[in-house]
Amino acid sequence: MAVAQQHPVLIIGGGIIGLSIGWRLAQAGQAVTVLERSEVGPAMLPAATWASAGMLAPYIEAEPGEERLFSLLRESHARWADFSQELMESSGIDTGYRTEGTLVVALDRDQAERLHHQYTFQRRLGIELEWIAGPVARQREPHLACNVLAAIYSPLDHQVDNRKVLIALRTAFLAAGGILRERTTVTEILVDRNQVRGVKITSGETLLAQTVVIAAGAWSAGLPGIPREARPPVRPVKGQMIAIAMPEDAPLVRHVIWGRDVYLVPRRDGRLLIGATVEERGFDSHLTAGGIYALLRRAWEILPSIDEAPVVELWTGLRPGSRDDAPILGRTPVEGLILATGHYRNGILLAPITADAIAELILTGETPALIRPFGLERFHPTNPRQVSGASSEDQLG
Ligand code: GLY
Repeated sequence: MAVAQQHPVLIIGGGIIGLSIGWRLAQAGQAVTVLERSEVGPAMLPAATWASAGMLAPYIEAEPGEERLFSLLRESHARWADFSQELMESSGIDTGYRTEGTLVVALDRDQAERLHHQYTFQRRLGIELEWIAGPVARQREPHLACNVLAAIYSPLDHQVDNRKVLIALRTAFLAAGGILRERTTVTEILVDRNQVRGVKITSGETLLAQTVVIAAGAWSAGLPGIPREARPPVRPVKGQMIAIAMPEDAPLVRHVIWGRDVYLVPRRDGRLLIGATVEERGFDSHLTAGGIYALLRRAWEILPSIDEAPVVELWTGLRPGSRDDAPILGRTPVEGLILATGHYRNGILLAPITADAIAELILTGETPALIRPFGLERFHPTNPRQVSGASSEDQLG
Protein backbone atom coordinates (compact mmCIF):
# COMPACT_ATOMS: atom_id res chain seq x y z
CA MET A 1 0.00 0.00 0.00
CA ALA A 2 1.28 3.48 -0.87
CA VAL A 3 2.54 5.43 2.15
CA ALA A 4 0.72 8.69 2.77
CA GLN A 5 2.97 11.76 2.99
CA GLN A 6 2.29 15.03 4.80
CA HIS A 7 2.15 18.22 2.67
CA PRO A 8 0.57 21.16 4.47
CA VAL A 9 -0.39 23.08 1.29
CA LEU A 10 -0.99 21.51 -2.10
CA ILE A 11 -1.66 23.59 -5.18
CA ILE A 12 -3.22 21.91 -8.21
CA GLY A 13 -1.93 23.61 -11.35
CA GLY A 14 1.52 24.88 -12.29
CA GLY A 15 0.41 27.83 -14.41
CA ILE A 16 1.02 31.44 -13.51
CA ILE A 17 -1.68 31.43 -10.81
CA GLY A 18 -0.57 28.22 -9.07
CA LEU A 19 3.15 29.04 -9.19
CA SER A 20 2.66 32.66 -8.07
CA ILE A 21 0.68 31.56 -5.02
CA GLY A 22 3.25 28.84 -4.35
CA TRP A 23 6.10 31.35 -4.64
CA ARG A 24 4.51 33.71 -2.13
CA LEU A 25 3.84 30.85 0.31
CA ALA A 26 7.35 29.45 -0.03
CA GLN A 27 8.82 32.92 0.53
CA ALA A 28 6.83 33.08 3.78
CA GLY A 29 8.36 29.78 4.92
CA GLN A 30 5.24 27.71 4.29
CA ALA A 31 5.78 24.16 3.05
CA VAL A 32 4.06 24.01 -0.33
CA THR A 33 3.86 21.61 -3.25
CA VAL A 34 2.62 22.49 -6.72
CA LEU A 35 1.21 19.62 -8.78
CA GLU A 36 1.39 20.07 -12.55
CA ARG A 37 -0.01 17.36 -14.81
CA SER A 38 2.30 18.37 -17.65
CA GLU A 39 5.73 20.05 -17.57
CA VAL A 40 6.05 23.77 -16.90
CA GLY A 41 6.68 25.10 -20.40
CA PRO A 42 5.41 24.53 -23.96
CA ALA A 43 3.96 21.11 -23.11
CA MET A 44 1.28 22.87 -21.04
CA LEU A 45 -0.60 24.04 -24.15
CA PRO A 46 -3.53 24.56 -24.47
CA ALA A 47 -3.45 25.81 -20.85
CA ALA A 48 -3.89 29.56 -20.75
CA THR A 49 -0.58 30.70 -19.24
CA TRP A 50 1.58 29.45 -22.10
CA ALA A 51 -1.05 30.37 -24.68
CA SER A 52 -1.75 33.94 -23.69
CA ALA A 53 -0.34 37.20 -25.04
CA GLY A 54 0.73 38.70 -21.72
CA MET A 55 -1.18 41.96 -22.03
CA LEU A 56 -1.45 43.87 -18.76
CA ALA A 57 -4.37 45.95 -19.96
CA PRO A 58 -7.00 46.86 -17.36
CA TYR A 59 -7.66 50.25 -18.89
CA ILE A 60 -8.33 49.71 -22.56
CA GLU A 61 -10.47 46.65 -21.80
CA ALA A 62 -12.60 48.40 -19.10
CA GLU A 63 -16.26 47.86 -19.95
CA PRO A 64 -19.54 49.19 -18.56
CA GLY A 65 -20.93 46.92 -15.82
CA GLU A 66 -17.51 45.60 -14.79
CA GLU A 67 -16.53 48.38 -12.38
CA ARG A 68 -15.82 46.10 -9.44
CA LEU A 69 -13.67 43.78 -11.55
CA PHE A 70 -11.91 46.86 -12.90
CA SER A 71 -10.84 47.80 -9.34
CA LEU A 72 -9.21 44.40 -8.90
CA LEU A 73 -7.53 44.57 -12.31
CA ARG A 74 -6.19 48.04 -11.57
CA GLU A 75 -4.87 47.00 -8.18
CA SER A 76 -3.07 44.02 -9.69
CA HIS A 77 -1.72 46.18 -12.49
CA ALA A 78 -0.23 48.51 -9.87
CA ARG A 79 1.70 45.56 -8.41
CA TRP A 80 3.11 44.28 -11.69
CA ALA A 81 6.27 46.40 -11.94
CA ASP A 82 7.45 45.29 -8.49
CA PHE A 83 6.30 41.72 -9.09
CA SER A 84 8.31 41.61 -12.30
CA GLN A 85 11.38 43.19 -10.68
CA GLU A 86 11.30 40.78 -7.74
CA LEU A 87 10.83 37.86 -10.09
CA MET A 88 13.80 38.91 -12.19
CA GLU A 89 15.97 39.29 -9.09
CA SER A 90 14.89 35.90 -7.71
CA SER A 91 15.22 33.98 -10.96
CA GLY A 92 17.79 35.86 -13.04
CA ILE A 93 15.30 35.73 -15.94
CA ASP A 94 14.13 38.85 -17.78
CA THR A 95 10.31 38.83 -17.83
CA GLY A 96 10.03 41.04 -20.92
CA TYR A 97 8.01 43.67 -19.07
CA ARG A 98 7.34 46.54 -21.51
CA THR A 99 5.78 49.94 -20.91
CA GLU A 100 5.40 51.51 -24.37
CA GLY A 101 1.63 51.32 -23.95
CA THR A 102 -1.26 50.38 -26.21
CA LEU A 103 -2.90 51.88 -29.29
CA VAL A 104 -6.49 51.02 -30.24
CA VAL A 105 -7.10 51.95 -33.86
CA ALA A 106 -10.21 52.66 -35.92
CA LEU A 107 -10.17 51.94 -39.66
CA ASP A 108 -13.45 53.55 -40.71
CA ARG A 109 -16.03 56.04 -39.53
CA ASP A 110 -18.17 53.39 -37.76
CA GLN A 111 -15.20 52.07 -35.82
CA ALA A 112 -14.09 55.61 -34.97
CA GLU A 113 -17.56 56.45 -33.56
CA ARG A 114 -17.60 53.28 -31.46
CA LEU A 115 -14.05 53.91 -30.31
CA HIS A 116 -14.96 57.43 -29.27
CA HIS A 117 -17.82 56.10 -27.11
CA GLN A 118 -15.34 53.72 -25.49
CA TYR A 119 -12.92 56.61 -24.96
CA THR A 120 -15.62 58.76 -23.31
CA PHE A 121 -16.67 55.95 -20.97
CA GLN A 122 -13.11 55.12 -19.99
CA ARG A 123 -12.18 58.78 -19.46
CA ARG A 124 -15.17 59.04 -17.08
CA LEU A 125 -13.56 56.27 -15.02
CA GLY A 126 -10.56 58.55 -14.64
CA ILE A 127 -8.36 56.51 -16.96
CA GLU A 128 -5.38 58.28 -18.50
CA LEU A 129 -5.95 58.08 -22.27
CA GLU A 130 -5.23 60.20 -25.31
CA TRP A 131 -7.46 60.53 -28.40
CA ILE A 132 -5.23 60.91 -31.46
CA ALA A 133 -5.84 61.43 -35.16
CA GLY A 134 -4.70 58.90 -37.77
CA PRO A 135 -1.60 60.84 -38.90
CA VAL A 136 -0.41 61.15 -35.29
CA ALA A 137 -0.93 57.41 -34.79
CA ARG A 138 1.19 56.80 -37.91
CA GLN A 139 3.92 59.07 -36.62
CA ARG A 140 4.12 56.83 -33.56
CA GLU A 141 3.78 53.59 -35.54
CA PRO A 142 4.83 54.24 -39.17
CA HIS A 143 3.72 50.80 -40.43
CA LEU A 144 0.05 51.35 -39.52
CA ALA A 145 -2.32 51.27 -42.51
CA CYS A 146 -2.89 54.64 -44.14
CA ASN A 147 -6.66 54.35 -43.56
CA VAL A 148 -6.29 54.39 -39.77
CA LEU A 149 -8.64 57.29 -38.99
CA ALA A 150 -8.13 57.71 -35.27
CA ALA A 151 -6.81 55.90 -32.23
CA ILE A 152 -6.81 55.81 -28.45
CA TYR A 153 -3.37 55.81 -26.88
CA SER A 154 -3.30 54.17 -23.46
CA PRO A 155 0.13 54.72 -21.88
CA LEU A 156 -0.54 52.49 -18.86
CA ASP A 157 -1.66 49.31 -20.63
CA HIS A 158 1.59 47.37 -20.60
CA GLN A 159 2.73 43.86 -21.50
CA VAL A 160 4.94 41.09 -20.21
CA ASP A 161 6.30 37.95 -21.86
CA ASN A 162 4.03 35.42 -20.17
CA ARG A 163 6.21 32.47 -21.20
CA LYS A 164 9.32 34.01 -19.66
CA VAL A 165 7.33 34.90 -16.55
CA LEU A 166 6.29 31.28 -16.15
CA ILE A 167 9.84 29.96 -16.45
CA ALA A 168 11.02 32.66 -14.04
CA LEU A 169 8.30 31.70 -11.56
CA ARG A 170 9.31 28.06 -11.72
CA THR A 171 12.90 29.03 -10.89
CA ALA A 172 11.89 31.48 -8.12
CA PHE A 173 9.44 29.02 -6.57
CA LEU A 174 12.06 26.26 -6.40
CA ALA A 175 14.71 28.68 -5.09
CA ALA A 176 12.34 29.73 -2.31
CA GLY A 177 12.00 26.09 -1.20
CA GLY A 178 8.78 25.08 -2.94
CA ILE A 179 8.31 21.56 -4.28
CA LEU A 180 7.16 21.11 -7.87
CA ARG A 181 5.84 17.76 -9.04
CA GLU A 182 5.44 17.74 -12.81
CA ARG A 183 3.74 15.01 -14.87
CA THR A 184 1.49 14.50 -11.87
CA THR A 185 -2.25 14.26 -12.40
CA VAL A 186 -4.69 14.45 -9.52
CA THR A 187 -7.06 11.50 -9.64
CA GLU A 188 -9.10 12.51 -6.61
CA ILE A 189 -9.44 15.37 -4.17
CA LEU A 190 -10.00 13.77 -0.78
CA VAL A 191 -12.71 15.26 1.44
CA ASP A 192 -13.87 13.81 4.71
CA ARG A 193 -16.49 15.32 7.03
CA ASN A 194 -16.42 18.56 5.07
CA GLN A 195 -12.64 18.99 5.49
CA VAL A 196 -10.17 18.54 2.66
CA ARG A 197 -7.62 15.85 3.50
CA GLY A 198 -5.34 15.88 0.46
CA VAL A 199 -5.27 14.35 -3.00
CA LYS A 200 -4.61 11.10 -4.77
CA ILE A 201 -2.31 11.22 -7.78
CA THR A 202 -1.66 8.97 -10.77
CA SER A 203 1.32 7.23 -9.17
CA GLY A 204 -1.12 5.84 -6.60
CA GLU A 205 0.28 8.01 -3.80
CA THR A 206 -1.92 9.88 -1.39
CA LEU A 207 -0.62 13.34 -0.55
CA LEU A 208 -2.10 14.61 2.69
CA ALA A 209 -2.78 18.31 3.17
CA GLN A 210 -4.89 20.58 5.30
CA THR A 211 -5.12 23.07 2.46
CA VAL A 212 -5.65 22.34 -1.24
CA VAL A 213 -5.75 25.19 -3.75
CA ILE A 214 -7.47 24.63 -7.08
CA ALA A 215 -5.58 26.66 -9.70
CA ALA A 216 -6.15 24.38 -12.66
CA GLY A 217 -7.47 26.99 -15.10
CA ALA A 218 -10.07 25.70 -17.56
CA TRP A 219 -9.83 22.23 -16.00
CA SER A 220 -10.73 23.41 -12.48
CA ALA A 221 -14.37 22.31 -12.52
CA GLY A 222 -13.62 18.80 -13.70
CA LEU A 223 -11.17 17.70 -11.02
CA PRO A 224 -12.46 14.44 -9.57
CA GLY A 225 -13.69 14.51 -5.99
CA ILE A 226 -14.74 18.16 -5.68
CA PRO A 227 -18.08 18.17 -3.87
CA ARG A 228 -20.81 19.77 -5.98
CA GLU A 229 -21.21 22.77 -3.66
CA ALA A 230 -17.49 23.57 -3.94
CA ARG A 231 -17.15 23.18 -7.69
CA PRO A 232 -16.22 26.42 -9.48
CA PRO A 233 -18.40 27.21 -12.51
CA VAL A 234 -15.48 27.47 -14.94
CA ARG A 235 -15.53 26.51 -18.60
CA PRO A 236 -12.93 26.60 -21.40
CA VAL A 237 -13.12 29.52 -23.86
CA LYS A 238 -10.92 28.85 -26.86
CA GLY A 239 -8.55 31.39 -28.37
CA GLN A 240 -6.50 30.83 -31.53
CA MET A 241 -3.20 32.68 -31.87
CA ILE A 242 -0.49 33.28 -34.47
CA ALA A 243 3.11 34.44 -34.16
CA ILE A 244 4.95 35.97 -37.09
CA ALA A 245 8.58 37.02 -37.25
CA MET A 246 9.26 40.74 -37.63
CA PRO A 247 12.49 41.87 -39.31
CA GLU A 248 15.16 41.64 -36.60
CA ASP A 249 16.68 45.07 -37.19
CA ALA A 250 13.34 46.89 -37.62
CA PRO A 251 10.38 45.69 -35.54
CA LEU A 252 7.10 46.55 -37.29
CA VAL A 253 5.55 48.01 -34.12
CA ARG A 254 6.59 48.85 -30.57
CA HIS A 255 3.17 49.33 -28.96
CA VAL A 256 0.52 46.72 -28.40
CA ILE A 257 -2.06 47.46 -31.12
CA TRP A 258 -5.77 46.65 -30.94
CA GLY A 259 -8.20 46.68 -33.83
CA ARG A 260 -11.68 45.25 -34.25
CA ASP A 261 -11.55 41.73 -32.77
CA VAL A 262 -7.79 41.49 -33.06
CA TYR A 263 -4.68 42.52 -31.16
CA LEU A 264 -1.00 42.58 -32.07
CA VAL A 265 1.66 42.22 -29.42
CA PRO A 266 5.33 42.81 -30.32
CA ARG A 267 7.98 40.90 -28.39
CA ARG A 268 11.59 41.89 -27.89
CA ASP A 269 12.70 38.61 -29.51
CA GLY A 270 11.18 39.80 -32.82
CA ARG A 271 7.93 37.82 -32.64
CA LEU A 272 4.65 39.59 -33.28
CA LEU A 273 1.71 37.81 -31.65
CA ILE A 274 -1.67 38.09 -33.34
CA GLY A 275 -4.71 37.10 -31.30
CA ALA A 276 -7.20 35.92 -30.51
CA THR A 277 -10.47 34.27 -31.34
CA VAL A 278 -13.05 33.86 -28.56
CA GLU A 279 -14.90 30.58 -29.10
CA GLU A 280 -17.21 28.38 -27.05
CA ARG A 281 -16.06 24.93 -28.18
CA GLY A 282 -15.62 23.03 -24.93
CA PHE A 283 -12.21 21.40 -24.71
CA ASP A 284 -11.74 21.29 -28.49
CA SER A 285 -8.42 23.02 -29.10
CA HIS A 286 -8.04 22.58 -32.85
CA LEU A 287 -6.78 25.37 -35.03
CA THR A 288 -9.27 26.21 -37.76
CA ALA A 289 -8.83 27.72 -41.20
CA GLY A 290 -11.60 30.21 -40.49
CA GLY A 291 -10.10 31.31 -37.17
CA ILE A 292 -6.61 31.81 -38.55
CA TYR A 293 -7.91 33.49 -41.71
CA ALA A 294 -10.02 35.97 -39.69
CA LEU A 295 -7.09 36.89 -37.44
CA LEU A 296 -4.67 37.35 -40.33
CA ARG A 297 -7.16 39.42 -42.33
CA ARG A 298 -7.91 41.73 -39.41
CA ALA A 299 -4.21 42.06 -38.56
CA TRP A 300 -3.30 42.73 -42.21
CA GLU A 301 -5.93 45.49 -42.43
CA ILE A 302 -4.18 47.30 -39.58
CA LEU A 303 -0.60 46.43 -40.46
CA PRO A 304 -0.23 45.57 -44.17
CA SER A 305 3.54 45.12 -43.74
CA ILE A 306 2.95 41.70 -42.17
CA ASP A 307 2.31 40.46 -45.72
CA GLU A 308 5.82 39.07 -46.22
CA ALA A 309 6.43 38.02 -42.63
CA PRO A 310 7.11 34.35 -41.90
CA VAL A 311 4.54 32.61 -39.70
CA VAL A 312 6.54 31.00 -36.89
CA GLU A 313 3.87 29.52 -34.63
CA LEU A 314 0.15 28.78 -34.50
CA TRP A 315 -1.57 27.63 -31.31
CA THR A 316 -4.74 27.62 -29.31
CA GLY A 317 -5.36 28.26 -25.66
CA LEU A 318 -8.27 27.59 -23.35
CA ARG A 319 -9.16 30.52 -21.11
CA PRO A 320 -10.82 29.63 -17.83
CA GLY A 321 -14.10 31.51 -18.24
CA SER A 322 -16.48 32.08 -15.35
CA ARG A 323 -20.16 33.04 -15.61
CA ASP A 324 -19.49 36.72 -15.02
CA ASP A 325 -15.97 36.87 -16.53
CA ALA A 326 -14.47 37.59 -13.10
CA PRO A 327 -12.15 35.25 -11.19
CA ILE A 328 -13.32 32.92 -8.44
CA LEU A 329 -11.10 33.41 -5.40
CA GLY A 330 -11.17 32.20 -1.83
CA ARG A 331 -12.81 29.62 0.39
CA THR A 332 -15.35 26.99 -0.55
CA PRO A 333 -17.93 25.31 1.71
CA VAL A 334 -15.30 22.54 2.18
CA GLU A 335 -12.85 23.50 4.93
CA GLY A 336 -9.33 23.92 3.53
CA LEU A 337 -10.38 23.76 -0.13
CA ILE A 338 -9.53 27.08 -1.78
CA LEU A 339 -10.20 28.37 -5.28
CA ALA A 340 -7.96 30.53 -7.45
CA THR A 341 -9.42 30.10 -10.90
CA GLY A 342 -11.80 31.55 -13.53
CA HIS A 343 -9.45 34.40 -14.50
CA TYR A 344 -10.76 34.29 -18.09
CA ARG A 345 -8.94 36.99 -20.16
CA ASN A 346 -6.97 38.40 -17.24
CA GLY A 347 -4.93 35.60 -15.72
CA ILE A 348 -1.55 37.17 -16.38
CA LEU A 349 -2.67 40.60 -15.19
CA LEU A 350 -4.31 39.21 -12.05
CA ALA A 351 -1.43 36.96 -10.97
CA PRO A 352 0.19 39.38 -8.46
CA ILE A 353 -3.00 40.20 -6.60
CA THR A 354 -4.24 36.61 -6.68
CA ALA A 355 -0.93 35.38 -5.28
CA ASP A 356 -0.80 37.98 -2.50
CA ALA A 357 -4.44 37.54 -1.50
CA ILE A 358 -4.59 33.73 -1.56
CA ALA A 359 -1.27 33.46 0.29
CA GLU A 360 -2.61 35.86 2.92
CA LEU A 361 -5.80 33.83 3.25
CA ILE A 362 -3.81 30.63 3.75
CA LEU A 363 -1.28 32.14 6.17
CA THR A 364 -3.71 34.17 8.32
CA GLY A 365 -7.07 32.46 7.84
CA GLU A 366 -8.56 35.84 6.85
CA THR A 367 -9.93 36.58 3.38
CA PRO A 368 -8.47 39.93 2.27
CA ALA A 369 -11.16 42.55 1.62
CA LEU A 370 -10.00 43.04 -1.98
CA ILE A 371 -11.05 39.54 -3.04
CA ARG A 372 -14.21 39.17 -0.93
CA PRO A 373 -16.51 40.17 -3.82
CA PHE A 374 -15.01 37.38 -5.94
CA GLY A 375 -15.92 34.37 -3.82
CA LEU A 376 -17.74 31.26 -5.01
CA GLU A 377 -20.80 32.23 -2.93
CA ARG A 378 -21.78 34.90 -5.48
CA PHE A 379 -23.00 32.13 -7.79
CA HIS A 380 -25.23 30.64 -5.11
CA PRO A 381 -28.84 31.20 -6.16
CA THR A 382 -29.86 32.49 -2.70
CA ASN A 383 -27.17 35.18 -2.81
CA PRO A 384 -28.21 38.12 -5.01
CA ARG A 385 -24.73 39.71 -4.84
CA GLN A 386 -23.09 40.07 -8.26
CA VAL A 387 -19.56 41.23 -8.85
CA SER A 388 -20.11 42.86 -12.18
CA GLY A 389 -23.04 45.12 -11.35
CA ALA A 390 -21.72 48.21 -9.65
CA SER A 391 -23.58 49.49 -6.61
CA SER A 392 -23.37 53.21 -5.85
CA GLU A 393 -20.31 52.85 -3.64
CA ASP A 394 -18.58 50.89 -6.40
CA GLN A 395 -18.86 53.63 -8.99
CA LEU A 396 -15.52 54.87 -10.16
CA GLY A 397 -14.44 58.02 -11.75
N1 GLY B 1 -6.54 38.79 -22.80
C1 GLY B 1 -6.59 38.53 -24.17
C2 GLY B 1 -7.33 37.32 -24.55
O1 GLY B 1 -7.89 36.64 -23.70
O2 GLY B 1 -7.40 37.02 -25.71
